[in-house]
Amino acid sequence: MIKGPVLTLAGKHQTDYDQNRENRLDGKTVAITGATDGIGLATAIECAQRGSHLILLSRNQEKMISTKQLIEKKVNDVEIDMFRLDLADLNSVKSAADYLIKNGFKINILVLNAGLAYYSPELLYGINSVINHFSHFLLLHLLVDHLVGSEQEPARVVSLASEAHILANGSGKFWKTYESEKIAAEILGTGSDISGAYAESKLANILHMKSMAERHPLIKFVSVHPGVVDTSFADKWKSGIGNKCSLCLVRMLSFCWKPCVRSPAQGCQTSIYCICEREIIQGEYYADNKPKSIRIRGSKDLTVIKNELYELSIAFVKRFLVPK
Ligand SMILES: NC(=O)c1ccc[n+]([C@@H]2O[C@H](COP(=O)([O-])OP(=O)(O)OC[C@H]3O[C@@H](n4cnc5c(N)ncnc54)[C@H](OP(=O)(O)O)[C@@H]3O)[C@@H](O)[C@H]2O)c1
Repeated sequence: MIKGPVLTLAGKHQTDYDQNRENRLDGKTVAITGATDGIGLATAIECAQRGSHLILLSRNQEKMISTKQLIEKKVNDVEIDMFRLDLADLNSVKSAADYLIKNGFKINILVLNAGLAYYSPELLYGINSVINHFSHFLLLHLLVDHLVGSEQEPARVVSLASEAHILANGSGKFWKTYESEKIAAEILGTGSDISGAYAESKLANILHMKSMAERHPLIKFVSVHPGVVDTSFADKWKSGIGNKCSLCLVRMLSFCWKPCVRSPAQGCQTSIYCICEREIIQGEYYADNKPKSIRIRGSKDLTVIKNELYELSIAFVKRFLVPK
């Protein structure tokens, strides 16, 4: 629905970052999940244009090959590796991480970008909690000691969160598994409550980066809100879960917000800022190239939620972790 070129009100967007590409990534390796579409694809192109080696981590082999060809057409002499990684399958995440480690890939910047906006209670947990948070949690947990950086140029991890986190309350109901479909459906609802599942998963992305920042001070961890971006993101929600009524609502909203929507190239600017800018603040949540405050519904303490989420996430991925 909102696919295709969209004019922004401002033309040249106010968040455009370093348009002359003075901040370079030559000699650096950037690994990106979900680089086959939308903001991830735009991020990959921009990083390649700044000289980086790319590692594409995506679930669809054919789409990855066409993405590689597309980037090679745009950028001369770019080096691109690709690995299949399906964030809906923790085994696939573990295999990809093991392969990268065993084969000595030296990642300087990891962009945890892939995400979707629907969930399936019949899977006994919100599927987007798995894709948007738990799988990225596992991936980062496995790779974190292998990221390459120095005191002057620390390794970086950038997680694509969202301002939608303001609809979350941190109760954690979307972060748990349930004993039966019936119980899951009773607690999580029918699946049309996009705001709950998605918002909680995006709050998880922000808190995940804060937890990692505390545990690994030599690596920079930040989360990002990219703005409202013209990708096929909402389409996937519509085809995945939306009923007729919510479809109409999304179409109306899409029409109204169209003039303010960013292109993927504009939507990746805050990610690129966090990848390239020398002084970024450890553990911060960024929007429009600036730190932004975190707000949630209800009165739960963010530090408590952060710690609960970390423990829950460790328990969720435990079977894939080899004791150190
Ligand atoms: N668009 C917005 O307005 C907006 C606003 C705030 C935050 N965000 C966040 O920005 C991020 C990127 O969103 P987008 O708008 O660029 O979405 P998009 O255009 O739908 O692209 C999503 C990417 O994630 C990949 N992906 C989905 N499920 C996957 C899985 N199971 N395993 C591996 N990769 C998977 C997709 O792969 P395929 O190509 O195979 O489908 C695609 O490459 C998301 O985390 C989203 O929450 C977006």
